[in-house]
Amino acid sequence: EKNMKIALGCDHAGIDLKDAIIGTVTALGHEVQDFGTYDRNSVDYPNYARLVGEKVAAGEFDRGILLCGTGVGMSIAANKIKGVRCVVCTEPFSAQLSRRHNNSNVLALGSRVLGSELAQMITTLWLEAEFEGGRHGRRVDLYE
Ligand code: RB5
Repeated sequence: EKNMKIALGCDHAGIDLKDAIIGTVTALGHEVQDFGTYDRNSVDYPNYARLVGEKVAAGEFDRGILLCGTGVGMSIAANKIKGVRCVVCTEPFSAQLSRRHNNSNVLALGSRVLGSELAQMITTLWLEAEFEGGRHGRRVDLYE
C-alpha cells in the first residue's frame, strides 16, 4: 500500500529512534504525523500509546508506530484499545508475519533493544507486508 498515513508516538526513551524511523517511513512514500513526545523530559508512555492507538482505531490513520525503551509498555497499552493490533518486534520475521497473518496495525519498537538500522529494517518490512486475509482473517475476527 502506498501513501499511508502513519501516526507516530514515543516517550523520552523511544525518542532516540524517532528521526531514523521518520526517515524510513517518509522515504517509502508515506506521511508521518508526530504526536510527541518532543524532548527527553520524562513522560508516561501510556498517554502516547493511547493518542496513537485511538487515531488508528478510529481510521484517521492507516497505521501507527510507537517507540519506547523496550516497546513492551507501548504495546501493552496500545492493545487495550479496541481495534488496535499492536506488535512489539525485535526482528524482521515477526514484523512481516504480524502483517501477513495478524493484520497488525501498530508497531512498537524499543530504543534500548534495537540499533537504528535494525529498527529501520523491521519498520520497512512491516510497512511493506500485506495482510493475507482468508483463514488468517477468520482468526483475527475471532477476537476483534
Ligand atoms: C521508560 O523508562 C521505560 O520504562 C519505557 O520507555 C518503556 O520501555 C516501557 O515499557
